[in-house]
Amino acid sequence: MANLSIKDIQKSYGALKVLHGIDVELEDGGFLVLLGPSGCGKSTLLNIIAGLDEPSTGEISIADRSVTALPPKDRNIAMVFQSYALYPTMTVERNIGFGLEMRGVPEQQRKAEVRKAAEMLQIDHLLQRLPANLSGGQRQRVAMGRAIVRNPDLFLFDEPLSNLDAKLRVEMRTEIKRLHERLGTTIVYVTHDQIEAMTLATKVAVMKGGYVQQLADPRTIYERPANMFVAGFIGSPAMNFIRGKLVVEAGRSRFESEGVRVPVPVSGAAPGTRNCVLGVRPEEMKVTTADNAPIKGVIDVVEPTGPDTMVTVRVGDHSVVARAEPRFQGRRGDPVAFDVDPLSINLFDAETEERIVMGSVHQDA
Ligand SMILES: Nc1ncnc2c1ncn2[C@@H]1O[C@H](COP(=O)(O)OP(=O)(O)O)[C@@H](O)[C@H]1O
Ligand SMILES: [Mg+2]
Repeated sequence: MANLSIKDIQKSYGALKVLHGIDVELEDGGFLVLLGPSGCGKSTLLNIIAGLDEPSTGEISIADRSVTALPPKDRNIAMVFQSYALYPTMTVERNIGFGLEMRGVPEQQRKAEVRKAAEMLQIDHLLQRLPANLSGGQRQRVAMGRAIVRNPDLFLFDEPLSNLDAKLRVEMRTEIKRLHERLGTTIVYVTHDQIEAMTLATKVAVMKGGYVQQLADPRTIYERPANMFVAGFIGSPAMNFIRGKLVVEAGRSRFESEGVRVPVPVSGAAPGTRNCVLGVRPEEMKVTTADNAPIKGVIDVVEPTGPDTMVTVRVGDHSVVARAEPRFQGRRGDPVAFDVDPLSINLFDAETEERIVMGSVHQDA
């Protein structure tokens, strides 16, 4: 069992507090992505898990064993960084097997394990080459091979794809996912790329300013973001935010703003109005010709991308983006209306920016 437990990790550098009490539990075989903007504390947390940095307070356990006081070499982990740190004068084979060589693993066995890892990463035809004669993606595979042969309890990745060009990044992302599915090793992976988080993670910790903003599976993070920061960080184009009022009367609730009147499933709310923000994802805005459509506006820009067409719409004072059909026909200045599924929307408190928890659906004609 190589589960990971992070308990109340705090870290200060002098007067600067960079981690404010991080708690994360990751199951054996899980894939945790630490996601957040630059400087939010992702690498610091990863380095603390690795033992490269010491926490000010808190506890790290790997496979139900506290490792907080252990040096990196005794934690049975393997790290892959953004810079590959390969030995330039050694062949690919020797680079991958170097850790095994250091541990005194006999040559025969070492060669077999290196070959197995290299085959898995599709670099077995490159074993006799030097790093200088490899592409960026191939070097990254060598660095991953070196981690695999150590057969660790835990893989730690720090932005491993950020030096690669866009196409290669997508390929290597698939490679890492395949690797995780084959090996089943527990992984902690740092990135600022929300697509990597969505595609790879079983669990995402969205971080900002040294705090975990939300810890959940990718679907929950996408569909039910804990606050407006998380909502805005995940998804491209971003979730639309429309400021307005939540009106509760006669046991029914609706959101109102200029051009917007959406029934919302808020249960148990006291009658009255409160300022809030409607969050609706571009793909949840469905073009309609119905007269009583919940969202009405005027087309500003139409951008066909191929598989779909992005339509920017003025709704009251707001600029809203809808992901429409590829053959969407509207033009700038045309009126346009949208339907939204009340279950797909989110409401946020205008002051705290926290998500307002909704209950059963009420119909509001
Ligand atoms: N050794 C250090 N000394 C002082 N401040 C540091 C040190 N390492 C990181 N920091 C600060 O801690 C914060 C978090 O950094 P880091 O964990 O590298 O962020 P991320 O990986 O999310 O970009 C940043 O403000 C950074 O400047
Ligand atoms: Mg970093």
